[in-house]
Amino acid sequence: MKPIGPLMREHRLIERMVALMDKELTRMGEENDVNPGFIGVAVDFFRSYADRTHHGKEEDILFRELAKKQLSKEHRKVMDELIAEHVSGRKTVASLSSARANYTRGNAGALGDIKACLQELVRFYPAHIEKEDKHFFYPCMEYFSRQEQDDMLEEFREFDRKLVHEKYQGIVKELEKKV
Ligand SMILES: [Fe+2]
Ligand SMILES: [Fe+2]
Repeated sequence: MKPIGPLMREHRLIERMVALMDKELTRMGEENDVNPGFIGVAVDFFRSYADRTHHGKEEDILFRELAKKQLSKEHRKVMDELIAEHVSGRKTVASLSSARANYTRGNAGALGDIKACLQELVRFYPAHIEKEDKHFFYPCMEYFSRQEQDDMLEEFREFDRKLVHEKYQGIVKELEKKV
């Protein structure tokens, strides 16, 4: 398997979450309310899975290794765009999280902010994923030998293995500060 295999599989799950958000947007439009539970799950999904697990492997491993290669101008440009897009995705998720907090504090006006963030994520992720799947991942693999690809796949597995521990250690640490 190529290292882009697991990344592309993760894209498929992100797309399923995006489809659910699109449905939730329609429901919000019809009923003019927010389901804070759904938004909370979406924020956690984008932080823990789409950003830390998925963008983490892209940035900390794939892009790090690509940066050591003599990339074509075009590939270097696309990689820089992808990194900038990760930053803006993170910002939108942070805005979604604070809009949700505002809403649960009783600020009904935050409904519009939540909708705007969801709309932005529903627009952003499919476009970002398409850029990677159709215009970047396959040509990028040509910079790596079979051995380098196998090593990367193993590093991906090790990265994933640590994440569940990292997540819950973080949760306990936060609680320790408050409780
Ligand atoms: Fe990405
Ligand atoms: Fe990706």
